Amino acid sequence: MSEKIIILDFGSQYTQLIARAVREANVFCEIIPYHKPFTFDENLKGVILSGSPFSVNDEKAPVVDVKEFNEKLPVLGVCYGAQLTAKIFGGRVEKSNKREYGRAHLQIEKEDKLLQGVSLHSQVWMSHGDSILELPTDFEVLATTESIPVAAFRKKDNNDHPLHALQFHPEVYHSLEGKKIIYNFLVNICGCKQDWTPSSFVQETIDNIKQQVGDGQVVMALSGGVDSTVAATLISRAIGDRLHGIFVDNGVLRKNEFQQVLDTYKEIGLNVKGVDKKQLFYDELKGKADPEEKRKIIGRLFIDVFQEEATSLTKIDFLGQGTIYPDVIESVSVHGPSATIKSHHNVGGLPEKMHLQLVEPLKYLFKDEVRKVGLELGIPHDQIYRHPFPGPGLAIRILGDITEEKVKLLQEADDIYVRGLKEYKLYPSIWQAGAILLPVKSVGVMGDERTYEYTLALRAVTSVDGMTADWAHLPYEFLAHISNEIINNVRGINRVVYDISSKPPATIEWE
Ligand code: XMP
Repeated sequence: MSEKIIILDFGSQYTQLIARAVREANVFCEIIPYHKPFTFDENLKGVILSGSPFSVNDEKAPVVDVKEFNEKLPVLGVCYGAQLTAKIFGGRVEKSNKREYGRAHLQIEKEDKLLQGVSLHSQVWMSHGDSILELPTDFEVLATTESIPVAAFRKKDNNDHPLHALQFHPEVYHSLEGKKIIYNFLVNICGCKQDWTPSSFVQETIDNIKQQVGDGQVVMALSGGVDSTVAATLISRAIGDRLHGIFVDNGVLRKNEFQQVLDTYKEIGLNVKGVDKKQLFYDELKGKADPEEKRKIIGRLFIDVFQEEATSLTKIDFLGQGTIYPDVIESVSVHGPSATIKSHHNVGGLPEKMHLQLVEPLKYLFKDEVRKVGLELGIPHDQIYRHPFPGPGLAIRILGDITEEKVKLLQEADDIYVRGLKEYKLYPSIWQAGAILLPVKSVGVMGDERTYEYTLALRAVTSVDGMTADWAHLPYEFLAHISNEIINNVRGINRVVYDISSKPPATIEWE
């Protein structure tokens, strides 16, 4: 087992950033709601207390027993975590006119392992309404800023299990040496060996899957996306062809995607069955124009097809899934200590119906970590860095009703667009791109002929997680080239427009 850090979450919007920073230092960590118990085993090396939207003086402020943790382990309090620490040990925390938001500069008052190597006046990022006005008696200040007297502090003489706290947020980008401070906590204070790497993860995960699955069989729906491909590859490395992948052609994939993805799976060595169900999907989608109805039909048909395929396999005990960490982190609600878990991507009620246990090798990884593991496994670069593609595929990029002819038209145009993005080396800097076929016909002229054909919208966005997005500022020459290529080569489209809406208020998909 890897050594581990626990991050107790008090509901801060930045908690996941703490986890990212710890992981970047090759130390495994888990985010746990503050009220949830955890075990102090030998792999646990330290505890970090997150920030919070609460004030420590609120009646319903979340509280943990910092003293108990610190009797066993090094502890680092961040923002709310720092204030809670100060208050619990007898200090004074109050709303004050010295509160700070945004940029501040550290004045280091005392040398300490936590701030080792941090430069004088290092920029840090603050976001607090309360201030620590008095430290508990057996504590000392390590740093101040231009406006507050306590920006970093520690408990005196606690060399066995140090207790440190920071009023600022070392985890955010604008705390310029924040990662160094987190590194210092992990390595200098907790003694972490930094051995959680993609290769150690692969080895450990394969061993775990072998143990979990024994000589059982695993079935898994594959989508061609990064997560399911990486998860399937890990499972396959553990149990070989006892993994049964199922990849369904729902008729609304990109041009040649079905065959290309199956070829890639073959190259990786996965045991995958391609199931061509195009006609079934076209038949059921016929005449359906409402976006939500189209989504529901595609979801339902997919589950039907998958179940049929899965039940035709003999003696299946497990269902593999590409669930990743952001899907399962229990978040602390600001409105109370209730924890909510986002729903898993269960394939219908299959796990219950067939008594399947889940195998989810990526459930502790962030997306960028999944990619690193994928590269470590030797999965082709193009597969790992593919743009996200929605489950309902081109069906939600053909506005209105769907016909096979419209799908073909959009596949051709989309293919020209995506190949162009790759040729012009624009693809990697874009988060997601695609073409949308509009139910709008307009007049054009080609040669001496009047045309009356469809309009195509191009969409490309930059984003980090798809929650917010900006339209990508693609070069005019590129747009001009793609517009020409599409209009000259795809009969049925005579006008191309570019979508310059951000999310919010627009969404990435048009439906
Ligand atoms: P929106 O359009 O909501 O999209 O800004 C955000 C991200 O989610 C994808 N998306 C979907 N993915 N099923 C999926 O699997 C869907 O029904 C669906 N709708 C949107 C979208 O492609 C983008 O990456």
